[in-house]
Amino acid sequence: MSVLRFLLALGCLRLGSAVDLQPQLASVTFATNNPTLTTVALEKPLCVFDSSATLVGTYEVYLYVLAELASSKNDSVQDHTGNPLSATFQQTEGGRTSPYKAASFDLQPCSDLPSLDAIGDVFRASEILNSYLIKVGSNRACLLDPNFQGLCNPPLSAATGYRFKYALVNMSTGLVEDQTLWSDPIRTNRLAPYSAIDTWPGRRSGGMIVITSILGSLPFFLLLGFAGAIILSFVDMGSSDGETTHDSQIMQEAVPKSLETSYTSVNRGPALDRAEVYSSKLQN
Ligand SMILES: *[C@@H]1O[C@H](CO)[C@@H](O)[C@H](O)[C@H]1NC(C)=O
Ligand SMILES: *[C@@H]1O[C@H](CO)[C@@H](O)[C@H](O)[C@H]1NC(C)=O
Repeated sequence: MSVLRFLLALGCLRLGSAVDLQPQLASVTFATNNPTLTTVALEKPLCVFDSSATLVGTYEVYLYVLAELASSKNDSVQDHTGNPLSATFQQTEGGRTSPYKAASFDLQPCSDLPSLDAIGDVFRASEILNSYLIKVGSNRACLLDPNFQGLCNPPLSAATGYRFKYALVNMSTGLVEDQTLWSDPIRTNRLAPYSAIDTWPGRRSGGMIVITSILGSLPFFLLLGFAGAIILSFVDMGSSDGETTHDSQIMQEAVPKSLETSYTSVNRGPALDRAEVYSSKLQN
């Protein structure tokens, strides 16, 4: 828990005036697989808008999403009267033309943050995480449901850069009171190419592959050696009858002395010797 406290303290230190802050990707401590192919988990803007003074009244935070390569250069999230935009995912082609409103939630007062001590409690963990994190792209059903009312937060596109912005809306006036900067582009994951998908449980290193293939071919060599041994034993059985042995002894003796001496400078193997023996025998 002390790690979480430390991260939170860091998060709060990073905060100053809301205007020059950016939404941040959720820490790996909270969200291990982030971003995914279709979702991005962000830290909620805790103590961002009310860090200096407590806000009186009711406020909501709106989360806007804009594709990195949006066609419009106008990334404003409010109209000229200060009313927050309510463009949807469908209307903006998933943030490709202009920002869309992906989520809204009550402003959690800086003085009243849920304790992280209870995060180990499985029954409260998700509730606590919800007060710290917001997941963009978490609602798959709303696009397919024609009767869906409310804010649609459908899955993002894979391998696409997105920017995010929080706006503080005063619910008494309905106006944008404050807003963060746009985040740096955050890319969703891309599908791993087919070749990179390793079906073997536990990836193998190059060294391991070499060892495995050596071990794999070992039975082949053993079989080869075994077959060789069998063949040799048959050959030995054949040569054990007196005739051939005697013959080869004769051949050895038949090497002419003159031939032997004239070839002394040549490094001869036994096979060569035998060839000479045969040739000399043929001459005889
Ligand atoms: C940007 O878009 C908003 C909302 O559509 C609009 O009110 C505003 O006038 C636009 N700003 C510019 C500079 O076009
Ligand atoms: C929000 O609106 C109320 C009512 O108009 C106003 O009293 C309050 O000051 C506004 N909040 C901010 C932060 O301006």
